[in-house]
Amino acid sequence: MAGQMKDDIEIRSTTPEDLGDLEVLYGAAFPDEDLFPLVTELLGGGDRLLSLAATLDQKLIGHVIFTYCSVEPGGHVVALLGPLCAAPANQKRGVGSKLVRKGFELLDARQVMVLGDPAYYGRFGFKADDLVETPCPIPPEWNEAWQSVLLDGNANKRLAGTLVVPKAWNDPALWSA
Ligand SMILES: CC(C)(COP(=O)(O)OP(=O)(O)OC[C@H]1O[C@@H](n2cnc3c(N)ncnc32)[C@H](O)[C@@H]1OP(=O)(O)O)[C@@H](O)C(=O)NCCC(=O)NCCS
Repeated sequence: MAGQMKDDIEIRSTTPEDLGDLEVLYGAAFPDEDLFPLVTELLGGGDRLLSLAATLDQKLIGHVIFTYCSVEPGGHVVALLGPLCAAPANQKRGVGSKLVRKGFELLDARQVMVLGDPAYYGRFGFKADDLVETPCPIPPEWNEAWQSVLLDGNANKRLAGTLVVPKAWNDPALWSA
């Protein structure tokens, strides 16, 4: 049954018409945290990003944003993954994985960064990153949660420098407990 559902999940780009459904999704997936202002700012801000919706029978059940950023010096293009969520009734059924993997396929970036649970993101190849500095300070106990994965082959070296993010991400509150 779960396998069948996994095959029925479709991934597409979001459109402005999704905003209402996204608000409901974020309220349900993050009961203790209000990430919707970040989502609306990112989606409305004109910054370069990839915003993907997961749908099941046309119903929006998951969402991810990859924001294009740069690692300086050098202007290397990377993507910052987040937020990512699946509707509570549809969690642990492959929605998040499908969104992340589709993003990896579509992104035109050398490396993806994420601040998240290593137990989850490790399955996509993410590893703790101490070469790229976060745009705002993170608590030292989150060092293992700051991770990266290379998209264009393991032969390439991970980037080193500072992550430069669009304004919406430049909020210290998003990087601390
Ligand atoms: C975290 C989240 C995005 C994962 O999406 P999902 O669709 O539930 O996850 P998937 O079905 O793709 O999970 C794949 C695997 O990861 C495991 N997994 C799911 N959530 C996990 C977590 N928080 N920690 C560790 N493992 C997790 C699943 O059990 C599954 O394992 P399996 O392949 O061995 O069966 C989703 O649970 C969610 O929206 N949580 C609330 C919001 C949140 O915390 N978002 C992430 C931070 S921005």
